[in-house]
Amino acid sequence: MTPLRSIVRGVGGYLPARVLSNGELATMVNTSDEWIVQRTGIRQRHVAADDELTSDLAVKAAENALASSGMSASDIDLIVVATSTPDLTFPATATLVQQKLGITRGAAFDIQAVCTGFVYALATADSYLKNGLGTRALVIGAETFSRILDWTDRSTCVLFGDGAGAVVLDAIPEAEAGDRGVLGSSLRSDGVHWDKLYVDGGPSSTQTVGHLRMHGREVFKHAVGMISDVIEDVLDKTGHTTGELDWFVPHQANLRIIDGAGKKLGIPAEKTIITIDSHANTSAASVPLALSIGVADGRIRPNDLVLIEAMGGGFTWGASLLRW
Ligand code: UT7
Repeated sequence: MTPLRSIVRGVGGYLPARVLSNGELATMVNTSDEWIVQRTGIRQRHVAADDELTSDLAVKAAENALASSGMSASDIDLIVVATSTPDLTFPATATLVQQKLGITRGAAFDIQAVCTGFVYALATADSYLKNGLGTRALVIGAETFSRILDWTDRSTCVLFGDGAGAVVLDAIPEAEAGDRGVLGSSLRSDGVHWDKLYVDGGPSSTQTVGHLRMHGREVFKHAVGMISDVIEDVLDKTGHTTGELDWFVPHQANLRIIDGAGKKLGIPAEKTIITIDSHANTSAASVPLALSIGVADGRIRPNDLVLIEAMGGGFTWGASLLRW
C-alpha cells in the first residue's frame, strides 16, 4: 500500500449564541469576575439553548469545516466525535452527526477521553486513514458541559462552557504531501487519577447522568508536567524542536496552566493561541475551536508547524504535531 499522510483540508468552529458572563455567574453563586479572571483567565462562556444538542453543535462546526475545505458531506467516509456529553447513552453522537449531515457511507464512532478527546480523535482518525479504513474524515470535538455542571458548585461551574470544533482530514500519498499533515502524536492515560475529575453518574452505576466533580488543585498540580511530557515525546518522535514551532494551540482549561507549560518548554506567549477568555473550558471542543479561530483570523497559515495538546479526566493527556 502507498504510504499515506493525513492532511488538514479545513477547520471550523461553532459557539452557541447565549453568552454567560462572569458578572452574571456572580449573581448565581458566590464568586466574582475578579476571582475567575485572576485564577483562570476566563471572562465568559457560551451556553447551548435548551433545544440545542451536542450533535447540533457538532454539525454546525462540521459544516463550517467542510465549507473551509471546499468539500461536501458526501466526500466524508469517517466521522470521529470526541465528546463526554453525548446526546444519548447510545448510539454514538457521531452516528447522529452522520445522519444530520446526510452521510450514508463509511463509519462513525465516538471517542471518550474527556478534555483530551480531540487529540485522541485526531490520532485515531489519522491511524484509520493511514491504514485505509477511510479516505476523508471529519474529526470533531463537541460538548454541552452546561448540562453536567452542578450550578451550585462555584469551584466547577465557572470553569466550563459549550461549543464545538472540527477539522477535515484527507489521506493523500506521502510523496504528494511533502512535509505537510499530521506528523505524529503522543497519547497517555493513567486511571489511578480517575476520581480527581469525574462525573458522579452513569448507566451502569447510578442510571443517572450525574454532575462533574473535580479536585481542581490536584488536576492543576499534574497538568504542566503531563503536558510537557507528551509534547517532548511528540517532538522527539518527529525530530522537531519547540524553537521551530509556528503555533502552540493548547487545551484551554486555565491560562495559568498554558503559561506554565509555555514557560517550561520555552514557547513564547506570542506563538500561543489563547481563546479561554471568550469561551472557557469547552473540553474536547477546546483545541479545534482554538485552531478554527487561529485560522479564521489569519494567524495559522499553510505550512505552519502547529503543536496541539490537552490534558483532562482519566487522567488522559496527549499532543500532536501538524504541518498545516
Ligand atoms: O481540562 C482539564 C480540567 N480542569 C483543569 O485543568 C482545571 C485545573 N485546576 C484549576 O484550573 C484550578 O485549580 C482552579 C481554577 C479550579 C482553582 O484555582 P486554585 O488557584 O487552585 O484555587 P483553589 O482551589 O486552591 O481555591 C482557592 C480559594 C478557596 O478558598 P479558601 O479555601 O482559600 O478560602 C476556594 O474556596 O478560592 C475559593 N474558590 C472560589 N472563590 C471565588 C473556589 N472557586 C471559587 C470561585 N469564586 N468560583
